[in-house]
Amino acid sequence: MMKIIVKENYEDLSKEAARVIKREMQKKPNLVLGLATGSTPIGLYKELIRRHKEGLSFSQITTFNLDEYFGLDSSHSQSYHFYMQKNLFDHIDIKPKNIHIPDGTVKDVKRYCAEYEEIIKRVGGIDLQILGIGSNGHIGFNEPGSLFTSRTHLTKLTESTIKDNARFFEKKEDVPRFAITMGIQTILEAKKIILLASGQNKADAVAKSIEGQITSQVPASILQKHPNSIFILDKAAASQLK
Ligand code: GLP
Repeated sequence: MMKIIVKENYEDLSKEAARVIKREMQKKPNLVLGLATGSTPIGLYKELIRRHKEGLSFSQITTFNLDEYFGLDSSHSQSYHFYMQKNLFDHIDIKPKNIHIPDGTVKDVKRYCAEYEEIIKRVGGIDLQILGIGSNGHIGFNEPGSLFTSRTHLTKLTESTIKDNARFFEKKEDVPRFAITMGIQTILEAKKIILLASGQNKADAVAKSIEGQITSQVPASILQKHPNSIFILDKAAASQLK
């Protein structure tokens, strides 16, 4: 069952997502949390940091990030490693050994990806996965056309994603062409999924994902089949829903 929550604005959306995470952490302090990057979850991370200052502890949780650019090491200011440290991990009491983010510098990618899956299994699977959505409907870096049965793998970014993400780099040519991402099957195995979308430029992808046909051309549409997924949207992102 897909649940849709529409909030007035980005701030309310971020607060709602933080509330869900806190609730899950109260039920299970050693929660296994899947994390996303991009501009959308920044407000959520700010809210979690605020709650940490008020006493919420992350010392028992384990995290797995969805993806990382291939070829960027963790010190690169646009790597998702750097992003996670700066926007969340540096400000909470998570144990470094419990943090997992795909390593975009590995040589044996195939083996590395299999190990990433293995570690997720070993901790009992992801309890709650946070997702953003690309303007083309991608989740993680699973671009249109990705197999629903895919697991963690190296993938090529589409032109539309490179264009969308160019705003974070000095020039478009600097955007990496490849990334390591959890596969769609990896994501679907999370017990609960929250997808966050904010702004008009996500409205089309959101409407197709929720009300359209389930198709690999809109990767997020497969979430219609997930038993426990929640879309938390702001009004602009929800504006094309019927
Ligand atoms: C990026 C990430 C996704 C993210 C999406 C949307 O390419 N790989 O995980 O959900 O694009 O990003 P934003 O939230 O900045 O719009």
